[in-house]
Amino acid sequence: MIKVENLSKKYPDKDALKEINVTFPAEETTAIVGPSGSGKSTLLQSLNLLERPTSGQLIIDDLSLDLGQNLSKSQVLEVRKHFGMVFQEKALFTHLTVLHNLTEGPIKVRKISKDQALKKAEELLAQFGMEELADRYPYQLSGGQQQRVAILRALAMEPQYLLLDEPTSALDPELEAQVLRVLRDLAQKETSMIVVTHNMAFARQVADKIVFIDNGAVGYDGKTEDFFNSTDPRIQQFLGAMTF
Ligand SMILES: Nc1ncnc2c1ncn2[C@@H]1O[C@H](COP(=O)(O)OP(=O)(O)OP(=O)(O)O)[C@@H](O)[C@H]1O
Ligand SMILES: [Mg+2]
Repeated sequence: MIKVENLSKKYPDKDALKEINVTFPAEETTAIVGPSGSGKSTLLQSLNLLERPTSGQLIIDDLSLDLGQNLSKSQVLEVRKHFGMVFQEKALFTHLTVLHNLTEGPIKVRKISKDQALKKAEELLAQFGMEELADRYPYQLSGGQQQRVAILRALAMEPQYLLLDEPTSALDPELEAQVLRVLRDLAQKETSMIVVTHNMAFARQVADKIVFIDNGAVGYDGKTEDFFNSTDPRIQQFLGAMTF
Protein backbone atom coordinates (compact mmCIF):
# COMPACT_ATOMS: atom_id res chain seq x y z
CA MET A 1 0.00 0.00 0.00
CA ILE A 2 1.13 3.50 -0.79
CA LYS A 3 -0.10 6.48 1.10
CA VAL A 4 0.60 10.18 0.87
CA GLU A 5 -0.27 12.47 3.75
CA ASN A 6 -0.52 16.25 3.53
CA LEU A 7 1.57 16.20 0.40
CA SER A 8 2.22 19.66 -1.04
CA LYS A 9 4.25 20.84 -4.00
CA LYS A 10 4.90 24.55 -4.30
CA TYR A 11 6.47 26.24 -7.27
CA PRO A 12 7.52 29.86 -6.83
CA ASP A 13 4.41 31.07 -8.64
CA LYS A 14 2.05 28.13 -8.12
CA ASP A 15 0.82 25.61 -5.53
CA ALA A 16 0.71 22.56 -7.76
CA LEU A 17 -0.48 20.24 -4.96
CA LYS A 18 -2.14 21.32 -1.73
CA GLU A 19 -2.17 18.98 1.27
CA ILE A 20 -3.03 15.83 -0.65
CA ASN A 21 -4.12 12.76 1.34
CA VAL A 22 -4.59 9.63 -0.77
CA THR A 23 -4.09 5.88 -0.47
CA PHE A 24 -3.16 3.67 -3.40
CA PRO A 25 -4.02 0.07 -2.49
CA ALA A 26 -1.82 -2.82 -3.60
CA GLU A 27 -3.19 -5.19 -6.25
CA GLU A 28 -5.64 -2.58 -7.42
CA THR A 29 -5.76 -0.11 -10.27
CA THR A 30 -6.16 3.52 -9.28
CA ALA A 31 -6.93 6.05 -12.00
CA ILE A 32 -5.90 9.65 -11.42
CA VAL A 33 -8.14 11.94 -13.45
CA GLY A 34 -8.73 15.68 -13.62
CA PRO A 35 -8.43 18.76 -15.79
CA SER A 36 -5.22 19.73 -17.57
CA GLY A 37 -2.81 21.44 -15.20
CA SER A 38 -4.61 20.18 -12.09
CA GLY A 39 -1.53 18.37 -10.74
CA LYS A 40 -1.98 14.75 -11.87
CA SER A 41 1.54 14.27 -13.24
CA THR A 42 3.01 16.08 -10.27
CA LEU A 43 1.21 13.70 -7.91
CA LEU A 44 2.25 10.60 -9.86
CA GLN A 45 5.88 11.71 -10.05
CA SER A 46 5.91 12.60 -6.37
CA LEU A 47 5.39 8.91 -5.60
CA ASN A 48 8.70 7.83 -7.13
CA LEU A 49 10.34 11.15 -6.27
CA LEU A 50 10.87 12.24 -9.87
CA GLU A 51 9.22 15.35 -8.49
CA ARG A 52 10.33 16.44 -5.04
CA PRO A 53 7.32 17.47 -2.99
CA THR A 54 7.74 20.49 -0.74
CA SER A 55 6.26 18.77 2.31
CA GLY A 56 4.25 15.78 3.45
CA GLN A 57 4.71 12.09 4.18
CA LEU A 58 5.23 9.27 1.72
CA ILE A 59 4.43 5.84 3.08
CA ILE A 60 5.22 2.67 1.14
CA ASP A 61 4.38 -0.39 3.21
CA ASP A 62 6.75 -0.16 6.20
CA LEU A 63 8.77 2.71 4.78
CA SER A 64 7.78 6.20 5.88
CA LEU A 65 9.52 9.33 4.65
CA ASP A 66 9.19 12.94 5.68
CA LEU A 67 9.28 14.74 2.34
CA GLY A 68 9.99 18.09 3.97
CA GLN A 69 13.48 16.83 4.87
CA ASN A 70 16.40 16.44 2.52
CA LEU A 71 16.40 12.84 1.37
CA SER A 72 19.61 10.90 0.94
CA LYS A 73 20.46 9.24 -2.37
CA SER A 74 19.92 5.82 -0.81
CA GLN A 75 16.48 6.82 0.46
CA VAL A 76 15.52 7.95 -3.03
CA LEU A 77 16.82 4.70 -4.56
CA GLU A 78 14.96 2.71 -1.92
CA VAL A 79 11.71 4.44 -2.91
CA ARG A 80 12.32 4.03 -6.65
CA LYS A 81 12.88 0.27 -6.29
CA HIS A 82 9.16 -0.11 -5.75
CA PHE A 83 8.14 1.50 -9.03
CA GLY A 84 8.17 0.98 -12.75
CA MET A 85 7.16 3.96 -14.83
CA VAL A 86 5.70 4.35 -18.32
CA PHE A 87 5.59 7.81 -19.81
CA GLN A 88 3.31 9.39 -22.37
CA GLU A 89 6.00 9.41 -25.03
CA LYS A 90 7.60 6.08 -25.61
CA ALA A 91 11.16 6.14 -24.45
CA LEU A 92 12.77 2.89 -25.59
CA PHE A 93 16.50 2.47 -26.06
CA THR A 94 16.72 3.09 -29.81
CA HIS A 95 19.98 1.15 -30.26
CA LEU A 96 18.64 -2.03 -28.66
CA THR A 97 16.24 -4.66 -29.99
CA VAL A 98 12.92 -5.19 -28.26
CA LEU A 99 14.31 -8.21 -26.44
CA HIS A 100 17.31 -6.28 -25.19
CA ASN A 101 15.16 -3.34 -24.20
CA LEU A 102 13.48 -5.79 -21.84
CA THR A 103 16.67 -7.31 -20.45
CA GLU A 104 18.78 -4.16 -20.00
CA GLY A 105 17.26 -2.97 -16.71
CA PRO A 106 17.04 -6.38 -15.04
CA ILE A 107 20.70 -7.15 -15.91
CA LYS A 108 22.22 -3.74 -15.19
CA VAL A 109 20.09 -2.54 -12.31
CA ARG A 110 18.69 -5.67 -10.70
CA LYS A 111 21.85 -7.71 -11.35
CA ILE A 112 19.87 -10.63 -12.71
CA SER A 113 21.81 -13.15 -14.80
CA LYS A 114 21.67 -12.69 -18.56
CA ASP A 115 20.03 -16.07 -19.09
CA GLN A 116 17.37 -15.40 -16.53
CA ALA A 117 16.66 -11.93 -17.92
CA LEU A 118 16.31 -13.34 -21.44
CA LYS A 119 13.97 -16.05 -20.22
CA LYS A 120 11.82 -13.53 -18.39
CA ALA A 121 11.74 -11.18 -21.40
CA GLU A 122 10.70 -14.00 -23.73
CA GLU A 123 7.97 -15.02 -21.30
CA LEU A 124 6.63 -11.48 -21.15
CA LEU A 125 6.59 -11.14 -24.94
CA ALA A 126 4.82 -14.48 -25.27
CA GLN A 127 2.32 -13.60 -22.59
CA PHE A 128 1.23 -10.55 -24.58
CA GLY A 129 1.49 -12.18 -28.01
CA MET A 130 4.44 -10.05 -29.07
CA GLU A 131 7.10 -12.73 -29.66
CA GLU A 132 7.51 -11.81 -33.30
CA LEU A 133 8.73 -8.34 -32.30
CA ALA A 134 11.66 -9.63 -30.22
CA ASP A 135 14.42 -8.92 -32.72
CA ARG A 136 13.12 -5.63 -34.08
CA TYR A 137 14.50 -2.22 -33.25
CA PRO A 138 12.15 0.48 -31.94
CA TYR A 139 12.12 2.33 -35.31
CA GLN A 140 10.65 -0.83 -36.86
CA LEU A 141 7.62 -0.70 -34.55
CA SER A 142 4.35 1.21 -34.71
CA GLY A 143 3.63 3.73 -31.95
CA GLY A 144 1.25 1.30 -30.27
CA GLN A 145 3.79 -1.50 -30.40
CA GLN A 146 6.47 0.78 -28.98
CA GLN A 147 4.22 1.75 -26.11
CA ARG A 148 3.36 -1.88 -25.37
CA VAL A 149 7.07 -2.70 -25.30
CA ALA A 150 7.58 0.24 -22.92
CA ILE A 151 4.98 -1.30 -20.59
CA LEU A 152 6.65 -4.72 -20.79
CA ARG A 153 10.00 -3.10 -20.13
CA ALA A 154 8.65 -1.61 -16.92
CA LEU A 155 7.14 -4.99 -15.98
CA ALA A 156 10.45 -6.79 -16.66
CA MET A 157 11.82 -5.03 -13.60
CA GLU A 158 9.08 -6.70 -11.54
CA PRO A 159 8.12 -3.50 -9.77
CA GLN A 160 5.65 -3.55 -6.94
CA TYR A 161 3.78 -0.66 -8.52
CA LEU A 162 3.40 0.35 -12.12
CA LEU A 163 3.01 4.08 -12.70
CA LEU A 164 1.63 5.25 -16.03
CA ASP A 165 1.21 8.86 -17.12
CA GLU A 166 -1.27 9.09 -19.99
CA PRO A 167 0.25 6.04 -21.64
CA THR A 168 -1.96 6.32 -24.71
CA SER A 169 -2.32 10.03 -25.30
CA ALA A 170 0.29 10.07 -28.09
CA LEU A 171 -1.54 7.30 -29.97
CA ASP A 172 -4.38 7.25 -32.46
CA PRO A 173 -7.55 5.44 -31.36
CA GLU A 174 -6.74 2.08 -32.94
CA LEU A 175 -3.30 1.91 -31.37
CA GLU A 176 -4.70 3.22 -28.12
CA ALA A 177 -7.06 0.23 -28.02
CA GLN A 178 -4.10 -2.19 -28.32
CA VAL A 179 -2.32 -0.58 -25.40
CA LEU A 180 -5.47 -0.40 -23.27
CA ARG A 181 -6.00 -4.10 -23.85
CA VAL A 182 -2.60 -4.81 -22.29
CA LEU A 183 -3.44 -2.59 -19.32
CA ARG A 184 -6.83 -4.25 -18.89
CA ASP A 185 -5.06 -7.62 -18.82
CA LEU A 186 -2.67 -6.38 -16.16
CA ALA A 187 -5.51 -4.97 -14.10
CA GLN A 188 -7.25 -8.33 -14.21
CA LYS A 189 -4.06 -9.97 -12.97
CA GLU A 190 -4.23 -7.68 -9.94
CA THR A 191 -1.16 -5.72 -10.85
CA SER A 192 -0.76 -2.71 -8.57
CA MET A 193 -1.17 0.18 -10.99
CA ILE A 194 -1.59 3.91 -10.77
CA VAL A 195 -2.53 5.42 -14.09
CA VAL A 196 -3.12 9.03 -15.06
CA THR A 197 -5.64 8.97 -17.86
CA HIS A 198 -7.99 11.23 -19.76
CA ASN A 199 -9.81 8.19 -21.13
CA MET A 200 -12.91 8.02 -18.94
CA ALA A 201 -14.31 4.89 -20.58
CA PHE A 202 -11.06 3.10 -19.78
CA ALA A 203 -10.97 4.47 -16.23
CA ARG A 204 -14.54 3.37 -15.64
CA GLN A 205 -13.92 -0.10 -16.98
CA VAL A 206 -10.56 -0.84 -15.41
CA ALA A 207 -9.99 1.25 -12.30
CA ASP A 208 -10.91 -0.03 -8.85
CA LYS A 209 -10.71 3.49 -7.51
CA ILE A 210 -10.64 7.03 -8.85
CA VAL A 211 -8.68 9.96 -7.53
CA PHE A 212 -9.97 13.20 -9.04
CA ILE A 213 -7.45 16.02 -8.80
CA ASP A 214 -8.90 19.48 -9.21
CA ASN A 215 -6.74 22.57 -8.98
CA GLY A 216 -4.09 20.86 -6.86
CA ALA A 217 -6.53 19.32 -4.39
CA VAL A 218 -8.36 16.00 -4.09
CA GLY A 219 -11.86 16.52 -5.49
CA TYR A 220 -12.84 12.87 -5.13
CA ASP A 221 -11.24 9.71 -3.75
CA GLY A 222 -13.30 6.57 -3.79
CA LYS A 223 -14.95 3.81 -5.74
CA THR A 224 -15.02 4.09 -9.53
CA GLU A 225 -18.74 3.59 -9.95
CA ASP A 226 -19.59 6.19 -7.31
CA PHE A 227 -17.45 8.73 -9.16
CA PHE A 228 -19.26 8.22 -12.43
CA ASN A 229 -22.63 8.39 -10.70
CA SER A 230 -21.68 11.36 -8.55
CA THR A 231 -24.10 14.26 -8.24
CA ASP A 232 -21.29 16.62 -7.15
CA PRO A 233 -21.60 19.57 -9.57
CA ARG A 234 -17.83 19.88 -10.04
CA ILE A 235 -17.51 16.18 -10.96
CA GLN A 236 -20.51 16.38 -13.26
CA GLN A 237 -19.06 19.43 -14.94
CA PHE A 238 -15.72 17.64 -15.44
CA LEU A 239 -17.33 14.46 -16.78
CA GLY A 240 -19.62 16.48 -19.02
CA ALA A 241 -16.59 18.04 -20.69
CA MET A 242 -14.89 14.69 -21.31
CA THR A 243 -15.46 12.46 -24.28
CA PHE A 244 -16.12 8.81 -23.53
N1 LIG B 1 8.56 23.15 -13.25
C1 LIG B 1 7.43 23.83 -13.03
N2 LIG B 1 7.46 25.14 -12.65
C2 LIG B 1 6.34 25.82 -12.40
N3 LIG B 1 5.10 25.31 -12.49
C3 LIG B 1 5.00 24.02 -12.88
C4 LIG B 1 6.14 23.22 -13.17
N4 LIG B 1 5.72 21.98 -13.51
C5 LIG B 1 4.37 22.00 -13.44
N5 LIG B 1 3.94 23.23 -13.07
C6 LIG B 1 2.54 23.65 -12.86
O1 LIG B 1 1.96 22.80 -11.90
C7 LIG B 1 0.60 22.52 -12.26
C8 LIG B 1 0.37 21.04 -12.30
O2 LIG B 1 1.07 20.47 -13.40
P1 LIG B 1 0.89 18.96 -13.82
O3 LIG B 1 1.86 18.71 -14.91
O4 LIG B 1 0.99 18.10 -12.62
O5 LIG B 1 -0.59 18.92 -14.38
P2 LIG B 1 -1.41 17.73 -15.06
O6 LIG B 1 -2.65 17.57 -14.29
O7 LIG B 1 -0.52 16.56 -15.23
O8 LIG B 1 -1.76 18.36 -16.48
P3 LIG B 1 -1.92 17.65 -17.92
O9 LIG B 1 -3.25 16.95 -17.90
O10 LIG B 1 -1.94 18.80 -18.87
O11 LIG B 1 -0.76 16.73 -18.12
C9 LIG B 1 0.36 23.24 -13.57
O12 LIG B 1 -0.29 24.45 -13.32
C10 LIG B 1 1.73 23.44 -14.13
O13 LIG B 1 1.77 24.59 -14.94
MG1 LIG C 1 0.24 15.54 -16.91
